[in-house]
Amino acid sequence: MTKILAIDGSPSGEKGNTALLLDRFLAGTADAGADVQRVSAYKMRVEWCSSRMRCWYSTPGVCIHKDDMLELLDRMVDADCWVLSTPVHVGGMTEGMVRVMERTMPLLSPYFEVRDGRTRHVVAPGAEQKLTVLVSTCGLYEEAALGPLVSQVADFSQSHNRRFAGALLRPHGLALKFMQANGYDVDDVLNAAHAAGMELVRTGTMSEDTLRKVRKPLMTQDEFVQMMNSAFDRRLGCQAGR
Ligand SMILES: Cc1cc2nc3c(=O)[nH]c(=O)nc-3n(C[C@H](O)[C@H](O)[C@H](O)COP(=O)(O)O)c2cc1C
Repeated sequence: MTKILAIDGSPSGEKGNTALLLDRFLAGTADAGADVQRVSAYKMRVEWCSSRMRCWYSTPGVCIHKDDMLELLDRMVDADCWVLSTPVHVGGMTEGMVRVMERTMPLLSPYFEVRDGRTRHVVAPGAEQKLTVLVSTCGLYEEAALGPLVSQVADFSQSHNRRFAGALLRPHGLALKFMQANGYDVDDVLNAAHAAGMELVRTGTMSEDTLRKVRKPLMTQDEFVQMMNSAFDRRLGCQAGR
């Protein structure tokens, strides 16, 4: 059975926009028979990496901090697939997610090797059979707003010698929640997230067609600007930005 470990890096947790996608994706993996575990970066006690590299030079594989990362690292080693779920903050992952990612250094060795033409740290054998998936939403309209995050997570995955299986991306993520709350039909997006989860467990991959349905535009750019600005207008009682 595929063991999935989802790390929710949204400060809004289960009430957030990103959770809308994550919930449906994980439901798909569970329906396909996966063993699914989920943790929230913002509910765990995770210290910042001190960057003293004691986990490399003094106590190899063991961090100086004794917090919730101790158990999480064991679960990460055990999992077949890491699902990293984070909204875009300042173009990348949230600080809660960065903190967890930095603390995975004990899983790497200081020794270098060359993989696919790139210098990488040596990792324990077997990681190459394992996967990473990104789930993300962003506030801006354009899919391009998610580009730097996708590159970062793909690189992180390669650092751990795992295959990056792809990303469920939801540009104008605020609009998804807004439309759902106002009775618009967004089931095709959420059903595609569910289908992606099933595909991942059954085949180890997610089809481009399914991922495209997850990130499809929900409206035009002009409609988005108009919809959001009138929502701000109603909320603020004045023109946005004044
Ligand atoms: C501090 C902060 C920084 C953000 N930075 C960006 C950004 O750089 N680009 C973007 O498209 N959206 C940005 N957003 C919007 C969020 O990515 C978006 O609202 C997301 O759907 C929120 O997901 P959540 O409800 O799971 O937290 C930012 C939001 C916050 C709170």
